[in-house]
Amino acid sequence: MIKPHGTDELRPLFVEDEDKRQTLLKEAETLPQLLLNSAAAANAVMLGAGYFSPLSGYMNAADAVSVAQEMHTVDGLFWPVPCLNMCSDASAIVAAGRMALRDPNVAGSPVLAIQDVTSIDTLSDEQLAGIAEKVFGTTDLDHPGVATFTTSGNHLVAGPLQVLNYSYFEQDFPDTFRTAMQIRAGIAANGWEKVVAFQTRNPMHRAHEELCKMAREALGADGVLIHMLLGKLKPGDIPADVRDAAIRRMVELYFPENTVMVTGYGFDMLYAGPREAVLHAVFRQNAGCSHLIVGRDHAGVGSYYGPFDAQAIFREQVPDGALEIRIFEADHTAYSKKLNRVVMMRDVPDHGMEDFVLLSGTKVREMLAAGQSLPEEFARPEVALILMEHYRHAN
Ligand code: ADX
Repeated sequence: MIKPHGTDELRPLFVEDEDKRQTLLKEAETLPQLLLNSAAAANAVMLGAGYFSPLSGYMNAADAVSVAQEMHTVDGLFWPVPCLNMCSDASAIVAAGRMALRDPNVAGSPVLAIQDVTSIDTLSDEQLAGIAEKVFGTTDLDHPGVATFTTSGNHLVAGPLQVLNYSYFEQDFPDTFRTAMQIRAGIAANGWEKVVAFQTRNPMHRAHEELCKMAREALGADGVLIHMLLGKLKPGDIPADVRDAAIRRMVELYFPENTVMVTGYGFDMLYAGPREAVLHAVFRQNAGCSHLIVGRDHAGVGSYYGPFDAQAIFREQVPDGALEIRIFEADHTAYSKKLNRVVMMRDVPDHGMEDFVLLSGTKVREMLAAGQSLPEEFARPEVALILMEHYRHAN
């Protein structure tokens, strides 16, 4: 199986030993406390679950700037997006060598992790904007990722972590939330070698389904890892439980048995387009996947990124040898009225734009919100039913 990023063995920060975990939970009651923001909590979950291996915790300002500007830490580890614990008021923890991190996303804010505080750096608004510009390609506050990042506070609390649980993900998505260690174990148990990962934050419409099938076939892959984001999204995106149900139904009905693992990871969407695509590649490598599908407007929002910028970054900015995982570059995928099936546009050079029905998650969401039913070119009928049901109750 493919090696994890940067090391021979995964380095998850979750404390597996139950006695040790209980001792740490007791210790946490005696420590200074910090209520995390959701992004920092999601980083802790990813660090705990091995996805962010080999990072040992939250980055300091020097690493944040280096990662934003050069895509590597000061020590030279390739990494595309700063992994930060940002806060606006550090007064309660300035003198703390060690502190308990509280979870903002679970009732009662239980302890999520313990952090050794190695430094607290304060960045100016200009320095924060400089990081945002590099990571998101914009400082526009209308960009949901920029808005979250820029309003998270100016203090970066750096240091290593011991992660004590997986926030709400294990409880809310018991069949779907999986750690990188569990996915590696699942891949090994299936006897798969070549595995293509599919990132998604949408219920899977026909284009998504066909992308997975085409990638598997073109690569001769043993299996597909459908790996959905289970964390926070921007308003209007479809909630994870609904997406999960829709995806499971589609796989059950329309994929050959034992060719797909349906799983999810606990992270908030950044909408950072190209940089997020590279982060997606890093953590799919950690989960044991040999390939990642990157298609049109991967991890994008609005019109901040060109449709294939998230593919170009791998060719133009990721140094050779930085990653072992390979990208499956998918072209725009659409329904062909001529052929009555979903195709990649590059495969049908005889088609004009009028020969396609264009499919996109955004379009599907708009139709659902308007109470329209989804045509078969967009979604499998069984999937459409689940989505329409959700929108009926949501409206
Ligand atoms: S994402 O934010 O998680 O990337 P989404 O779930 O819509 O959004 O996309 C999942 C993957 O499918 C991404 O790699 C994206 O580029 C790709 N994709 C989605 N729709 C299309 C399409 N019509 N043509 C080509 N690729 C697509």
